Amino acid sequence: MSKVRFVQPDGRDSVIEVVSGVSVMLAAVRNGVPGIEGECGGCLDCATCHVYVDIAQVAALPSPNDDEHELLATVASPRKSNSRLSCQLKSPFPTETLTIYVPEAQS
Ligand code: FES
Repeated sequence: MSKVRFVQPDGRDSVIEVVSGVSVMLAAVRNGVPGIEGECGGCLDCATCHVYVDIAQVAALPSPNDDEHELLATVASPRKSNSRLSCQLKSPFPTETLTIYVPEAQS
């Protein structure tokens, strides 16, 4: 089982265990983590699941596909080199605990 550490813009954080096959977005929504909306349910149609992956961990994740790249151009908060759509990040992760920074806004 992998864990995700969610860090809010104000620095508050929470750690959630994520079973295999479950996305970071779904884990956040199911556990009431603020700031990750996931309006489309994970079908790459909304970009309200935008997150920043810890810069030291992002390269170890599978690369975004073309559809994710395209949708990342529409995110509400600034797009950065470590921006990802969290519905596309599924457990297990390459590190025991994946650190995710929640953006200021999703819409
Ligand atoms: S939940 Fe809609 S694109 Fe990720």
